[in-house]
Amino acid sequence: MTAKDQNTKDQTPKTDSDANSLWGGRFAAGPAAIMEAINASIDFDRLMYTQDLAGSRAHCNMLMAQGIIGNDDGHAILTGLDQIEGEIRDGKFEYSAALEDIHMHIEARLHEIIGPAAGRLHTARSRNDQVATDFRLWVRDAIDNTDAALKALLQALATRAEEHAATVMPGFTHLQTAQPVTFGHHMMAYYQMFSRDRSRLADCRARMNENPLGAAALAGTSFPIDRQATATALGFDRPCANSMDAVADRDFALEYLSACSITAVHISRLAEEIVLWASPLVNFVALPDSLSTGSSIMPQKKNPDAAELARAKSGRIIGNLNTLLIVMKGLPMTYSKDMQEDKEPTFDTADSLALAIAAMTGMVAEIKVNEAAMEAAAGQGFSTATDLADWVVRVLGVPFRRAHDITGQIVRMAESKNCGLEDLSLADMQTVEAGITDEIFAVLGVNNSVSSRTSFGGTAPDLVRAAAQAAQTDLSDKR
Ligand code: ARG
Repeated sequence: MTAKDQNTKDQTPKTDSDANSLWGGRFAAGPAAIMEAINASIDFDRLMYTQDLAGSRAHCNMLMAQGIIGNDDGHAILTGLDQIEGEIRDGKFEYSAALEDIHMHIEARLHEIIGPAAGRLHTARSRNDQVATDFRLWVRDAIDNTDAALKALLQALATRAEEHAATVMPGFTHLQTAQPVTFGHHMMAYYQMFSRDRSRLADCRARMNENPLGAAALAGTSFPIDRQATATALGFDRPCANSMDAVADRDFALEYLSACSITAVHISRLAEEIVLWASPLVNFVALPDSLSTGSSIMPQKKNPDAAELARAKSGRIIGNLNTLLIVMKGLPMTYSKDMQEDKEPTFDTADSLALAIAAMTGMVAEIKVNEAAMEAAAGQGFSTATDLADWVVRVLGVPFRRAHDITGQIVRMAESKNCGLEDLSLADMQTVEAGITDEIFAVLGVNNSVSSRTSFGGTAPDLVRAAAQAAQTDLSDKR
């Protein structure tokens, strides 16, 4: 449409609700409908119905105990809430954008079921403390679910680590072959990362477990409420100390999203390694059929899609953290409607991370390890050069810097002969350092190399096996 067409366009409103001809014409629906569409959160916050009902029950019981509402009304409310729970669970509950959010839906339905007594439930409460409570309860459940998923991943890592405590593979720095390590040691490295992720979740849970309910709109209430009672009923450790903070902050969600982002980065790195290992160029692992896909055109292919998607989920998970940080950063005290945008990124992170962790748990448990390929690669690139240098220091008493130089010359020799260190003759090595004896060959093999790394936290198979076993005991003892 040209500007001229626009100018000559009929300016009369098409419907009553399309009254704003200045900007309403752009939209099929009028301003009221646009307001409703931007305002409604029911499409996503209905996920919190269990938490909303729990908060309302705790509030109602407290109001009765404090004599703020009568027992008859209170019991009618509780019965009505039970009925609503059944209706939602059975898919019989009716949703409408006009009722905005889950809080108003439940309250409106309560009115339909029990009549005017329903109006007493919102005494000494606002949607501001209500939503803060619901969302905390939801995030607390999400933390528990994420934690359980991580525990299963740890179990898989420790199991594979024990099985492959002595399986030698190349360890890399700069993705250049550095020193031999064991596959079990590599798995246990991830074990440590995901264990710290669990402890970050536990920290976050402990810090957030305070009850916003009773903060009311922002300033507290003149009714004689008992905030400790609702805190106890909802499993919170204590009430939030400041009513304004209680309704205004979402740092508990930010902490959860931060912890999830770090986990997603760990997941992504593990996924990247599996993609790399499964490449025919590397061939360290074979992917389980159940977690790979074929190509529609290249029949020989088996693609690591599950690992690739787990890697990619980190993008949206980190994005969700950014989303909420940016939503929150300019908000004055206390509640602003901006904060309604806290839920979708948080829900999405919980779902996306659950999938990514589950996919990687399956991968770790089911990849077939190609021990021969790993061992052959472990010896490439003069990976035992450090062992040679250490032997020269230990046995010949040479300072490390000098041993480093001797080893460098021997590596150059092997390079010019296009062979490995262990393929050089003793006589060859003695031209560089006369003191070298044939005992040197014992440390040049990759298995000897890993066995000698017995320092605390090192890759020696006995240490790896012990760490993997201790991890499994730990997992079965604790939550
Ligand atoms: N749906 C709203 C949210 O998610 C509930 C709180 C509404 N409070 C208000 N003062 N309008 O944030």
